[in-house]
Amino acid sequence: MSRLIFEKSRPGTVGYRYPNCDVPYCDSKELFKQNLIRREPARLPEMGENEVIRHFTELSRRNFGIDLGFYPLGSCTMKYNPRINEKSAGLDGFNALHPLQPDEQSQGTLEMMYDLIASLSEVTGMKWGTLAPFAGAHGEFTGMKLFKAYFRARGEMGRTKILMPDSAHGTNPASAHIAGFDIVEIKSDSRGHVDPSVVREYCDETLAGIMMTNPNTLGIFEKEIMEIAGMIHEAGGLLYYDGANMNAIMGKVMPGKMGFDCVHLNLHKTFSTPHGGGGPGAGPVFVNEKLIEFLPTPVVEKEGELYINSFNHSLSIGRVGGFHGNIGVLIRAMTYILINGEDGLTDVSEFAVLNANYLREKLKDFYDLPYDEVCKHEFVLSAKSLKENYGISALDIAKGLLDKNIHPPTIYFPLIVEEALMIEPTETETRETLDGFVEVMISLAKIASSDPDSLHMAPVNALVGRVDEVLAARKPVVNYFNAEEER
Ligand SMILES: Cc1ncc(COP(=O)(O)O)c(C=O)c1O
Repeated sequence: MSRLIFEKSRPGTVGYRYPNCDVPYCDSKELFKQNLIRREPARLPEMGENEVIRHFTELSRRNFGIDLGFYPLGSCTMKYNPRINEKSAGLDGFNALHPLQPDEQSQGTLEMMYDLIASLSEVTGMKWGTLAPFAGAHGEFTGMKLFKAYFRARGEMGRTKILMPDSAHGTNPASAHIAGFDIVEIKSDSRGHVDPSVVREYCDETLAGIMMTNPNTLGIFEKEIMEIAGMIHEAGGLLYYDGANMNAIMGKVMPGKMGFDCVHLNLHKTFSTPHGGGGPGAGPVFVNEKLIEFLPTPVVEKEGELYINSFNHSLSIGRVGGFHGNIGVLIRAMTYILINGEDGLTDVSEFAVLNANYLREKLKDFYDLPYDEVCKHEFVLSAKSLKENYGISALDIAKGLLDKNIHPPTIYFPLIVEEALMIEPTETETRETLDGFVEVMISLAKIASSDPDSLHMAPVNALVGRVDEVLAARKPVVNYFNAEEER
């Protein structure tokens, strides 16, 4: 991994100097036409710092974030976002750059992007990639477009079927469908695994491929993956890896070694960048040699000493996003990789798996555990017995956790587990926090039998009480001003 060197710009200039390159600093007065430069200050609302701080602090208190408490939201990898990420994302050299500045003036950013693609290609066992997609689902869609381009180039447009385990995240079938594929759902076996014999049934000339995540959404490692990959490839298909669960396997196994041809990563999960309210994230995509010529343009490349955005790719699927992707998120991910290094990233996965298994063992006597085997970074409990015996659902447990300042786990997913509680502690929590969570979960299971009504009322300590979630989903009030009026 090459070392990144950032130099501060000279005052009054935009862009920044790239150490091994002759490109001069660029003066903003030269860069912009005179008639484009503002003559008067912009008319912005004025407020004292105190008011602004109060406003944003008040807003932040209405929300729940990882900085406030434990956030074991399965599948989402809500790990701590190190503050040093913010520092590098805030560097002038990155921030002062305009997305339309030519490559010669964007060398530092392009070098960062090049290094990030190289590092993540190494982590995934792929050849090269694109940083353009803005989310995991966007990465999946990009991957599916790459599959389409591959089959089109081979004259195999009759390959229309994408196999999809029934434990798959909802975005997987949605992305494959909007890219024009037909979805074939594969039923998991009694161990929660994809059954190779079921995959074999669909291995014919209409097969385009399979989308999988490994470990799967139950937190279980698909041990037959090599057999499955062999069958899919033999039938002429491709394998797509949903890298949302990469936090479990970094430094241990690469998707490329498992036979996958294309991978997306959720930088806002494994690589410690913020999720925001569903974003802004980044879902970069990495591919092996089969798909490399179809990568979206521009492709970040190196020509001699110069980093470039190359459009010289006639088979490319074209642009999948504006400009260079979500640069701020990419810088944060690169920082995280550099501060951890190869060994550090392996530690991340080891501790994530250790923490998940610790919780699984501590909680399995108090909730149903449908798939009782050593898990990877997450595991799925069920409130089925609590529901049957006391009328307490997974939703009631989730609401009870809110009263204890703990964000609930993901509930009712994966769909194949009734009353699912999907728990992912991540590696960034202490043993004390995990023990505190265990204590609360056990106490909620006890309250379920002794005083179920109190749990139906929860949350009582949160800013917003129990809401009608069905109504909220069916008739969302998305306008801020209407929401204020309705309050
Ligand atoms: C397993 C899995 N796949 C895909 C996604 C989609 O990622 P994004 O939310 O970034 O679109 C998620 C998101 O939670 C996920 O958990």
